[in-house]
Amino acid sequence: MTATELPSSLIPTLPGHTYTDPTIFELEQEKIFEVMWFCAVRSADLPEAGNFRTVQIGRESVLVARSRDGALRAFLNICRHRGAKLCVEETGTVKRNFQCPYHAWTYGLDGKLVAAPNLTSMPDVDRVEYGLKTVHLREWLGYAWLCLADEPPSFEETVQRDVRERLGNLDAIGNYQVSELDLGRRITYDVKANWKLIIENFMECYHCATIHPELTEVLPEFADGYAAQYYVGHGAVFGEEIKGFTIDGSEGFDTLSGVGADQERRYYAITVRPQVFINLVPDHVIIHRMFPLAADRTIVECDWLYAKDVVATGKDVSRSVELFHRVNEQDFEACERCQPAMSSRAYAQGGVLVPSEHHIGEFHRWVREVTSAKGW
Ligand code: FES
Ligand SMILES: [Fe+2]
Repeated sequence: MTATELPSSLIPTLPGHTYTDPTIFELEQEKIFEVMWFCAVRSADLPEAGNFRTVQIGRESVLVARSRDGALRAFLNICRHRGAKLCVEETGTVKRNFQCPYHAWTYGLDGKLVAAPNLTSMPDVDRVEYGLKTVHLREWLGYAWLCLADEPPSFEETVQRDVRERLGNLDAIGNYQVSELDLGRRITYDVKANWKLIIENFMECYHCATIHPELTEVLPEFADGYAAQYYVGHGAVFGEEIKGFTIDGSEGFDTLSGVGADQERRYYAITVRPQVFINLVPDHVIIHRMFPLAADRTIVECDWLYAKDVVATGKDVSRSVELFHRVNEQDFEACERCQPAMSSRAYAQGGVLVPSEHHIGEFHRWVREVTSAKGW
């Protein structure tokens, strides 16, 4: 059945092979992840000069490090001499420099080439020119967002526009003062599913009544299948008996200081293309960063952020973490259930979206457009 033959309440999804084909994944790496702003590292994970973290963005390994001047900087994690991978660890601390394990070219925390065997006999080698290749970096919401493009797109017109279009304005997220919050818990999920399945799942709530009993208890309107993302500016209201965004609806922590009465008993969910999900609730913020590694594998790092005093005084965050951790497990299990079906002949033409999922069609249109894969 072609799209034009579908009943009017249904619209088509992308075809199955777009979730499995390595050439399409490579196209997405090139046209999406290596071009757009990518939320890579929580700034506070690298508090001291010399702290570093490596992340995979598209087909590149990127090194993010705290410099002596206190700024975060990002570089391609590749030695300029003969191309060895500079840092092989995912995270760590260097005293002063990064030294390549192959022939010992040595780079400062600002990326400059500071030493190499026999470098003094090569006075014509410019230390900046042969320093590490810089990657654009911008901090927002307490995270370092990186962009591999030579000329990055406007941050305001991409990342912040996604937030604005969802919430109506940027103040609605500014109230949570996300960059002032501290990390209460981080859980990393290794999901055997294509990144698009994870985004699509996050964008809809048609599945909420079936797979999220705890979440639906806290947010009764989710039982109707309309996600908070369906309406501009809408936050799902807590059920009447619900005291906090916790696994059993019991009390959470004090409402974050900037959050006003209009946001106090509500849940907001935002998708920032291409790899970030943000959840706002009165007493904490949950930020998911996806790292798509292959057509059928995505790492998701999820941070639960709380007011500084909650973390400093060692308050027990487990009941509030447990709610969304369970939601994550339920969601990722659903995505993993769908992934093998993407290569089935039953899904060759794709599936369908019901009206409460029609906004996912816009995501599909966007993916097609940016990858210019018109033949999908
Ligand atoms: S490849 Fe790094 S020093 Fe030779
Ligand atoms: Fe879900």
